[in-house]
Amino acid sequence: GSVPGPTLRVRQGDRVVVTLVNHLPVSTTIHWHGLRLPNAEDGVAGVTQNAVQPGASYTYDFIVKDAGTFWYHSHQDTGNQIPAGLFGALVVEPSEGNVLQALDQTVVMHDMPGGSTLALNGVPGQSHISAAPGENVRLRIINAAPPSMDGGPEAPVLIGAPYRIVALDGHDLAGPGLLGPERIPLGIGQRADLVFTMPAQGSVELVTTQIHGKVDPIEQLIGADSPQASLVIGSGDLPAMPDLTRVPVFDETTYGSNEADPVAAGPFDQTDSVVLGEHPGFRDGGPQLIHTINGSASPNVPPIVVHEGDLVRLHIINQTAEYHPMHLHGHVMSVIAVDGESLRGSPLQLDTVLVGPHETIDVAFRADNPGIWMFHCHVLLHAAFGMDMM
Ligand code: C2O
Ligand code: CU
Repeated sequence: GSVPGPTLRVRQGDRVVVTLVNHLPVSTTIHWHGLRLPNAEDGVAGVTQNAVQPGASYTYDFIVKDAGTFWYHSHQDTGNQIPAGLFGALVVEPSEGNVLQALDQTVVMHDMPGGSTLALNGVPGQSHISAAPGENVRLRIINAAPPSMDGGPEAPVLIGAPYRIVALDGHDLAGPGLLGPERIPLGIGQRADLVFTMPAQGSVELVTTQIHGKVDPIEQLIGADSPQASLVIGSGDLPAMPDLTRVPVFDETTYGSNEADPVAAGPFDQTDSVVLGEHPGFRDGGPQLIHTINGSASPNVPPIVVHEGDLVRLHIINQTAEYHPMHLHGHVMSVIAVDGESLRGSPLQLDTVLVGPHETIDVAFRADNPGIWMFHCHVLLHAAFGMDMM
């Protein structure tokens, strides 16, 4: 009955049982984006289960291994069903320790169903939540907003308090330092957790911007549209709004402390190239901007076959001028290098890696979860136009 759907909060190690009851006139499923769970619970219609028909029910049943910020969404006809509202936040609290701040708040960025008005937690424009001076806050930002054809990320900016980005895609960063206002690029599907302390007086504001085209100084100017949605935290005066076109873009490759990541270090049992391309053509009975992986469009992209336990490296080459947030189901990818340069900051463990225009990114993952898993661009149009593989 709501958009987004209810926020599900569970504890790491919990057995989670969710029954999907389909009251829609069309078939659907639920995918648990970012969770490492058994293949049969992954919710991919036509791959891990049949789509759940109108009037039918389906029960998902799994044990949650990973703590962090995740989300769930339909994985049937996603280009229509996600923009129409079939998604929600999923928070997994750790089994040990306590990450909860006085205020622990999910912020889902999404389009209002039936249009392309950006909203935060179902509210377009400006919304408010209360927080007391000195209170510690954790914002769990989830990008569920379909971008325009260029696939460009949302880039929310936090104004009014220094903060740390403590996790990306639900995985903790090492040694996250304090930041001032920065535009944090989040491709559709990605998440960022921000932690800060409320100032002694006045409020803190999270404002949205978008990034289009390549992230360079000129195009940043084009990208910093006037804010479309904002969340005000606390009461009192609003913080002074900086010139958003001059706010720097957060660089995840240099943030935090440069600790070792055994998955990114190799040696690798197998390396595969994943070349992202596009060209106009004829597909599904009509003209289309066909989106390809290794020269073919889904369902004709040859799968990558690996053995259980292998350490696999993917060499992702973006030959387009678009952004492609590439999402691997059921596993966590460690970033090795961006355009051939190793990370200088914290290890990055992601389920969705944002590959910028003409960028090359190397990632690695441990193939420790048997089954048929999707690897696809999370830009719903690009996926519908063929940018998916197994
Ligand atoms: Cu968030 Cu294959 O999906
Ligand atoms: Cu894409």
